[in-house]
Amino acid sequence: MEIYEQLTAQGDKVRSLKTAKADKADVDAAIQLLLKLKVDYKEVTGQDYKAGCPPSGTAVSNDRQSENGGEEDTVDPWNVATNSAKGVDYDKLIVRFGSSKIDQELVDRIEKVSGQKAHRFLRRGIFFSHRDMNQVLDAYEKQKSFYLYTGRGPSSQAMHVGHLIPFVFTKWLQDVFDIPLVIQLTDDEKYLWKDLSLEDCHRFAEENAKDIIACGFDVNKTFIFSDLDYMGSSPEFYRNVVKVQKHVTFNQVKGIFGFSDSDCIGKISFPAIQAAPAFSSSFPQIFKGRKDVQCLIPCAIDQDPYFRMTRDVAPRIGYPKPALLHSTFFPALQGAQTKMSASDANSSIFLTDTPKQIKNKVNKHAFSGGKDTIEEHREQGGNPDIDVAFMYLTFFMEDDEQLEKIRQDYTSGALLTGELKKMLIETLQPMITAHQENRKNVTDEMVKQFMTPRPLNFNF
Ligand code: TRP
Repeated sequence: MEIYEQLTAQGDKVRSLKTAKADKADVDAAIQLLLKLKVDYKEVTGQDYKAGCPPSGTAVSNDRQSENGGEEDTVDPWNVATNSAKGVDYDKLIVRFGSSKIDQELVDRIEKVSGQKAHRFLRRGIFFSHRDMNQVLDAYEKQKSFYLYTGRGPSSQAMHVGHLIPFVFTKWLQDVFDIPLVIQLTDDEKYLWKDLSLEDCHRFAEENAKDIIACGFDVNKTFIFSDLDYMGSSPEFYRNVVKVQKHVTFNQVKGIFGFSDSDCIGKISFPAIQAAPAFSSSFPQIFKGRKDVQCLIPCAIDQDPYFRMTRDVAPRIGYPKPALLHSTFFPALQGAQTKMSASDANSSIFLTDTPKQIKNKVNKHAFSGGKDTIEEHREQGGNPDIDVAFMYLTFFMEDDEQLEKIRQDYTSGALLTGELKKMLIETLQPMITAHQENRKNVTDEMVKQFMTPRPLNFNF
């Protein structure tokens, strides 16, 4: 009850700050506290906070804790795990990482500044957290451009649909803001972390580049690079790597990434290599030597540790801090306790799967929030919050109304699990087939073009 009252007061405070058009930093701080209180509230009562509904006396105390054994969700660049079938508690992560929530106001603002309807990933909270996005928009409104940076670790030939999420969203950002994009393929990272040869990692980088290009990026606005190639050919890039290396201690990376004394020194210095593309001077061919062009990084939230470190060193080496947009994870077929993994064939829908494989995997492996028998399901309804087929539809179905109707019908029991899965299959099949067609049209020559350091169609 005490937290409930604090929450109500804090909600009022946020509203009045907003109406008073208070300083953005004050509003953000108030929202951060509000979120923290919401997390505490859920911890204590086991319920989500609803304004005007005090906690019910019979609430199962610590439901969330019993739901996940009282442990924190694991989220770092190498592991994602939670015990909750609903998936990671993302509000909690925002508080833990100290980022900001992408609220309706920010979504509206992105629409206003870009002049386009927000992408479904923004409308549905799939990109849910950010750092300094308002600053990027402020500058953009004053005709100050920025650039996009994202990446992928090429650990195998096999990419799955989850890998496309950041690229699909980045493509949208590039289209609506008309800005340069750099894509880092960390073949060096995969060599250091996995039992793979340098040649294999480099080959996977080129293969993965084809899948990325198939997302529709414009060759005149996009530079894709393999670390193994670009590092050795760009003195400016390497200088930035060394600057970062000088300003981060072993103790700091141990704290951020959990490295130990027996990790190889390649791993320990790698974060500097993922940091360097966030500085525009790493790409003199694109930015004509300018070192002050603001960078915006769309990525899954597990990459945030790299960029917390990057933002920490940036001012100390004379560069602007990169801004960030964070996405949730793409759940494994077996359930949202973990994300899709390319090394487990049954947990993933691959970009190379045939329509028949897609159908079989969804029908056989997609964790269902439905009831055991049709009678029970009709009577009690299903639970879309833990249903993987429904979760996937929130990623890929464009029509908001159709999706909402599915949610209601599934919850009421009018829609059966088999019918829901059929809708997902019919959404995925044409999408993957189209991707395969696009990829077939990507020639080696095109890959070479995208991966050649060159000026892009922008005047800096
Ligand atoms: N480390 C990332 C991975 O393993 C790859 C990566 C490099 C990246 N730079 C990035 C991802 C920037 C997002 C944004 O997948």
